[in-house]
Amino acid sequence: RLNAFQEVSVSVCSPSEIVSVELIDGSAEIFGVEMIKNAVRTFSSSFAVHTSSGCSLKFIGAPAGIRTQSTNSVIYDIHKNLQDSRERAFKDGKLGPIVLFTGPTDVGKSTITRSLLNYAVRCNTQPIFIDLDVGQSSISLPGTVGILPVDCPGDLVKGYCEQKLSVYFFGHKSPGFNMLLYFELINKLSVTMYNRLEVSPKISSSGTIIDTCGWITGQGYLAILHAARSFQVSTVFVIEDRELYANLRQELPTATVTFLNKLDGVTVRSKAFRTNKRKELIQEYFYGADRILNSYLFEIGYRDFRIIRICSTVNKISQYMYDEPHKYLDIKNVPLDHLMINQILAISYASTVEEVITTSVLGFICVKDIDFENRILKVLSPQPGPLPNNLLIAGDIFYET
Ligand SMILES: Nc1ncnc2c1ncn2[C@@H]1O[C@H](COP(=O)(O)OP(=O)(O)OP(=O)(O)O)[C@@H](O)[C@H]1O
Ligand SMILES: [Mg+2]
Repeated sequence: RLNAFQEVSVSVCSPSEIVSVELIDGSAEIFGVEMIKNAVRTFSSSFAVHTSSGCSLKFIGAPAGIRTQSTNSVIYDIHKNLQDSRERAFKDGKLGPIVLFTGPTDVGKSTITRSLLNYAVRCNTQPIFIDLDVGQSSISLPGTVGILPVDCPGDLVKGYCEQKLSVYFFGHKSPGFNMLLYFELINKLSVTMYNRLEVSPKISSSGTIIDTCGWITGQGYLAILHAARSFQVSTVFVIEDRELYANLRQELPTATVTFLNKLDGVTVRSKAFRTNKRKELIQEYFYGADRILNSYLFEIGYRDFRIIRICSTVNKISQYMYDEPHKYLDIKNVPLDHLMINQILAISYASTVEEVITTSVLGFICVKDIDFENRILKVLSPQPGPLPNNLLIAGDIFYET
């Protein structure tokens, strides 16, 4: 039983600790999403249930830890400030807040982002969500970045309206594998974001919330800076890292840079846990969250498709390349070899190979087998064949069943 303004924090650190929770009585929410009475929700990673009026909950499972505490109002306070800015922007016919969250890994960036988006839509605003975390994507497969206008509360991966989602394939689990491609995708997303913000006064005043990955040193820092400048952010929240906060304050004179402590209750996730989470995300894509969706295995001829990889043409990147990273990117054909087995290939929307880098993707397939003699690939797909386009992008994201 939780009293008003209490929350229970549940740590799930391995697949054996999966926990289910059911709201028996009262009202409660999880990361900004209201719980439905008697509907059981299952979690394979840590979560918290919060109530503002008291509730009874039933838990099933063996979590690594469970802790009850008073609710920390930090997310709600940020939300109230953002709502004020949105309302002012709407009245004045201006752009709403463009907010970016940064900080080291496991400090609560994605939790805050997700909760703020859910609170915002519950207040009848429609913020845009931009996910720059290619390692632990919240809206698509690992190795992607994406933009999603959010107009209903949801669980990002499972709940939001996917028709409006645009996903771009980066192809790697960290920006460092191809910094220039990462910069190019940020540039593309910023153009897309500003176009979408123009759709209506409601959307433009609702602004944007940007989530980033936890790589904050060296080139990771440059990526954060590039994102902040490219999206012309109005506010940056730096979680936990004082040095990052000081540096961004200096480098972003037109933005409000605010420091936040690490969020209470966040769980540190091991490398193995993250690897497993990535696999889970891909599994959900092909088979659905409850493994009940049909997936399809069919054959495609290697000759009927163009399978490409986006490569950097330079070994060392310099600052002058940031503005036009596409000049230093090249498309290479991927030969048919064993390395392709278990690879995720993104199906590009592009009609020509020249457009492929900055065009969103329609979906993904996974190469399961290769008949080298007849040059045929056997692929796993969530949709039956034929594939909707013959331009496929390879990276280094694999899915082994
Ligand atoms: N109050 C809480 N109680 C229990 N678990 C929580 C709580 N808040 C966040 N978590 C969990 O802690 C983990 C880390 O949080 P989160 O994903 O927000 O960190 P992050 O800063 O985005 O990390 P990364 O840089 O790796 O993306 C997540 O599994 C999240 O669900
Ligand atoms: Mg995150």
